[in-house]
Amino acid sequence: MDTLTSLNPQSPQTHAILNLWGISVVILGIIFLIVTGIIAYSLMRYRWREGEPDPEQVSGNKRVEMIWTAIPLLIVIFLFVLTARTMSFSDPAPAGEPDLIVIGHQWWWEARYPKSGVIAANEIHIPTGRAISVVLDSADVLHEFWVAELTRKMTTVPGHPNHIWLQAERPGVFLGVCSEFCGTQHAWMRFEVVAQDPQEFAAWEQSQLAAAATPTGEAAKGLALFEKMSCVNCHAIKGSPAQARVGPDLTHFASRKQFGSGIMDNTEVNLRSWLRDPQNVKPGVKMPNFKLDDEQVSQFVAYFETLK
Ligand code: CUA
Repeated sequence: MDTLTSLNPQSPQTHAILNLWGISVVILGIIFLIVTGIIAYSLMRYRWREGEPDPEQVSGNKRVEMIWTAIPLLIVIFLFVLTARTMSFSDPAPAGEPDLIVIGHQWWWEARYPKSGVIAANEIHIPTGRAISVVLDSADVLHEFWVAELTRKMTTVPGHPNHIWLQAERPGVFLGVCSEFCGTQHAWMRFEVVAQDPQEFAAWEQSQLAAAATPTGEAAKGLALFEKMSCVNCHAIKGSPAQARVGPDLTHFASRKQFGSGIMDNTEVNLRSWLRDPQNVKPGVKMPNFKLDDEQVSQFVAYFETLK
């Protein structure tokens, strides 16, 4: 976790991509050594020496020209065939209904599971052992979905859904980023792909389907505040009047390890500083500073902690 590298493949797709890279590096390395070797040899062996006449000038040796045209052509054809094979393996055509719809927003990721109805944010759970069909969309500008260890990059284009396959060979947490500049907080558009055994994934999906817990005491005041203020204009909480889809769904906010698209760990102290002034934590974020007082912040924190 916390590393973004293409050199540690954890899916059949990224293994194939790294293999192609490895073969290409070897072939290109051999060509590089041959070419630089011949140049270095010629420079030393045939350098100009005092009193020597100019060498004989020759041009248009048909056989040599055919050979040095044919060899690069064959190399390029070979690399082309390998590339086409890797592409068809790592990115086959989409089949059937998608398992997952990921929508890029400035600056966070929404994950919808159309088959179960789960809606999550920035923490994308997938079951291990099979390729997940993912449709990628954008709510505003171009973003780029990239989980280096699991799959290739793919741009999210508003109004033009793209497709990739997402697969993990083993359970684990894999870092994802937005890899196309999309505004001031582009760098804080991180997410996690949490790959789980199929039973664990099913349990997670069940837990995410539940409506929000009914709060009591301090937390109930937080909910009242949430409904009274303009929070409901952007956020959704299942089982409450809040149904907006502008910001992340908060129904299971407390189950996430981070918030703000990776900018902070989801702890009470961090949540307090976020609520006090989100613009200070993540300048430019679409959530305004509501200038909450300490009591209001405490009520919100108490409420959000119940959203497991
Ligand atoms: Cu989204 Cu960069």
